[in-house]
Amino acid sequence: MYTFEELKKGALPKHLAIIMDGNGRWAKQRGKLRVFGHENGVKAVRETVENCAKLGIDCLTLYAFSTENWNRPKLEVDTLMRLLVASLKKELKTLNKNNIRLNAIGNISSLPKKAHKELLEVIEKTGKNTGMTLTLALSYGAREELKTAVQQICAKVKNNIISPENIDETIINNHLYTQNLPDVDLLIRTSGEHRISNFLLWQIAYAELYFIDVFWPDFSEQHLVEAIINYQNRERRFGKTSEQLN
Ligand code: FPP
Repeated sequence: MYTFEELKKGALPKHLAIIMDGNGRWAKQRGKLRVFGHENGVKAVRETVENCAKLGIDCLTLYAFSTENWNRPKLEVDTLMRLLVASLKKELKTLNKNNIRLNAIGNISSLPKKAHKELLEVIEKTGKNTGMTLTLALSYGAREELKTAVQQICAKVKNNIISPENIDETIINNHLYTQNLPDVDLLIRTSGEHRISNFLLWQIAYAELYFIDVFWPDFSEQHLVEAIINYQNRERRFGKTSEQLN
């Protein structure tokens, strides 16, 4: 059992992203409805956010709702939106107490009015916090994000604001939802699935991937610690050789 103090001696991921998967299966295992899994998923969100802040992670990004999730049964979509609104209302105080700044990526104007309004309000009311940036990916899809960036850049080319030969990675980055965030260092996916599912495709170019075989509602402090220890024991070469790094 490692303590947070021991973990802090190594390099922490600056940007940790998590695909929170397996709420539905967690509920099914217990003979309950999928929404019961999401309700319990919220508890794991709360605990993970608090642990990451305590640990000193700069940026935590959670895949809370994908562009594809709109196709789920209405009851499930409504429940997820209700949980989002309730959590935002309930956690504002805790976010401020822990100096956490809320941020969102995705096509957030497509959220139901109430959720959109609450989200913007909490983003504004935590905007001056200087600790961890907690980003919720909501109605997020990486292909949609890239498509929008290409459209915006093309419009600037058309209006002679950018010339095509000057388009570089920085310009592309600056047109993504994540423009103010560093690249992802560590991506965790729960539930035993080994997929990226349209999450942060550009931003994970050099991320370490970590797949864990527990359903999201069961993801605990110990699982987080194990993921970070595993990350700290990897050699990130960014295309170089081991010798060049040493
Ligand atoms: C994946 O499990 C989980 C989601 C699609 C939503 C994640 C949402 C929460 C944890 C709760 C709301 C979030 C916040 C930030 C308040 P799944 O339903 O795909 O599970 P399955 O693969 O077993 O079906």
